[in-house]
Amino acid sequence: MTDPILEVKNLKIYYNTKSNIFSKGASGQNKAVDDVSLKINKNEIHGLVGESGSGKSSLARAVMGLSPITEGRILFNGNDISNRKHGKDRVKIQMIFQDPNSSLNPNMRIKEILEEPIIVNRLMRKDEIMPRLLELMELIDLPVSYLDRYPHQLSGGQRQRVGVARAMTTDPELIIADEPTSALDVSIQAQLLNLLYELKEQKGLSILFISHNLAVIRYISDYISVMKKGEIVETGKALEVFNQPEHPYTKKLISSIPTLKKFS
Ligand SMILES: Nc1ncnc2c1ncn2[C@@H]1O[C@H](COP(=O)(O)OP(=O)(O)O)[C@@H](O)[C@H]1O
Ligand SMILES: [Mg+2]
Repeated sequence: MTDPILEVKNLKIYYNTKSNIFSKGASGQNKAVDDVSLKINKNEIHGLVGESGSGKSSLARAVMGLSPITEGRILFNGNDISNRKHGKDRVKIQMIFQDPNSSLNPNMRIKEILEEPIIVNRLMRKDEIMPRLLELMELIDLPVSYLDRYPHQLSGGQRQRVGVARAMTTDPELIIADEPTSALDVSIQAQLLNLLYELKEQKGLSILFISHNLAVIRYISDYISVMKKGEIVETGKALEVFNQPEHPYTKKLISSIPTLKKFS
C-alpha cells in the first residue's frame, strides 16, 4: 500500500439557494457535494467521472481552497488543508482548467504567464527563472520563441499545453485537471492526455482527472470514481470498474461509450 497524497473525508458542499419564481417561495440548500470521501495515491491518475452538475468542479475547487466547505476534511500528505488558503502545501497542488481561452490572461505573453506563479510565490531567484521557463517549454514541446507570443497567437491545443506548463511551474505534487480536454478538438485531445500521462511518469505526479467523458477517463486513469448527484456511487481500479461495474449508473455510462482503443 502506498500513502495517499490526497484524502477527502466526508466532504459536504451545500450552496444556499434563494427562493425564486420556480421554487415557489422555498429557499434551501443545493447539496452539490454530499458526504464524499476519496483517496488518491501517490503517482496515480484518479479519474472522476459524472454528468454535468454532479458536483465534480465543486469538489475540485474545494481541494484548491477556492470553494467554501460545509463539512468534512481535506488532507494533503496527511496535513489538514481544509481551511488553509495559502501556504507551502497549496503551492504543491495546481490546477488545469477546462478552457485555456478564459484561464490564460490574453494581455500577457506566455513568458509572463509562466513566470507569474514563480514570482507571486517567491519560489526562485531572478536568474533562475529563465532556465526554468526553457525547461517548461521543452516539457510541453513548444518552441522557445513562443515565450514572446500572446495566447491568441497559439492554437487551442498549444494554449492548453501552456495551461499545463503553468500548472507545472511550482513543481507540484498533485494536479487537478478539471475537464482539461473538453474545449479541444477530438483530434488533439489524445495529445494532451499523453502529455499528462508522461508528466505522471517522469515527475512522479498524482493527478485528479475530471471529465464527464468516460472514454477519456478510461484512456488515462489508474483509479476511477463515479459521481452522481453529489455522491460517489462507485470507486475502484479502472480496469475492475470497467470490467465489472457494480452500480447501475456506471453500467449505463459504460454501455453508452463508443469503443476507443487503449494506447499502448
Ligand atoms: N458557486 C455556486 N453557487 C451556487 N451553486 C453552485 C455554485 N457552483 C456550483 N453550483 C451548483 O452545484 C451543483 C454542482 O455543480 P458543479 O460542481 O459545477 O458540477 P460539475 O462540475 O459536475 O458539472 C450544480 O447544481 C450547480 O448549479
Ligand atoms: Mg465542472
